[in-house]
Amino acid sequence: MNSAYEPSPDSVEVKTCCSTLYQSDIVRFLLGDSFHPGGIQLTEHLGTLLQLAQGQRMLDIASGQGKSAIALAQRFGCQVQGIEYGAQAVQRATEAAAEAGVAHLVTFQQGDAERLPVAAETFDVVICECAFCTFTDKSTAASEMWRVLKSGGRVGLSDLTRLGDVPEELQSFLAWIACLADAQPVDNYTSYLTQAGLAVDLIEEHNEALYEMVQQIRGKLLGAELLVRLKKLDLPASLDFTQAKSLARAALTAIQMGRFGYIVMSAHKAT
Ligand SMILES: C[S@@+](CC[C@H](N)C(=O)[O-])C[C@H]1O[C@@H](n2cnc3c(N)ncnc32)[C@H](O)[C@@H]1O
Repeated sequence: MNSAYEPSPDSVEVKTCCSTLYQSDIVRFLLGDSFHPGGIQLTEHLGTLLQLAQGQRMLDIASGQGKSAIALAQRFGCQVQGIEYGAQAVQRATEAAAEAGVAHLVTFQQGDAERLPVAAETFDVVICECAFCTFTDKSTAASEMWRVLKSGGRVGLSDLTRLGDVPEELQSFLAWIACLADAQPVDNYTSYLTQAGLAVDLIEEHNEALYEMVQQIRGKLLGAELLVRLKKLDLPASLDFTQAKSLARAALTAIQMGRFGYIVMSAHKAT
């Protein structure tokens, strides 16, 4: 982590809590290793949109368990660096890259999206999947994307969107961490990127991928609750099934009503 950077205590708490949750066994049980709607299929689609190719350098901001970084290196032969706030996630991702035989192409490092520990104008492509909405200072994060991109370099962002206000039942701290509470209207994502000096080229809706993911989570929650009751599954006592199920239910309704969605967008750093 960049030691010169001292974010406000509030933002440290949110970042630490967010990365701790995403490193936990329960989230891995519910989501697998790919923590975004559409999974690796949507990641590879993003790679195609961004014209990733062999020899290019790509940065994955908030790389989580490293699944996307590894898949893109395997599919396109690009060199990938992942930056992730959670130290444990960085360690797991590094081990996964070695197991997948791509350690020569993919590396991971601990760091903050709002203060990327990399030099300016280093990357041909930057991606950030399902994480921008959790960043506490989105303008700074967008400026950091611009700074580390080479001139003409491309950004691929995929994230949760909202239409109108966030329903009250989706305003809890858990909802924030689950990327729901601070999901942005599509226009806001465009503004963050544009104000940072990035020109938006394309926006695609993938709302169905979000619906499918929340439905899968809900199914797993119901199954897990039953297994815990039957004493056939041991999960941390910290998981509040009632709260988690009601969050999933409220999210599904909101997605069906068009209040939440998922987008993929691409932009470039103007020369
Ligand atoms: C929903 S997960 C997405 C992970 C990964 N991009 C994926 O799609 O599998 C959000 C990730 O953002 C990370 N994160 C949140 N705030 C961050 C920050 N300020 N800097 C770096 N990573 C951050 C969390 O630790 C978590 O791993």
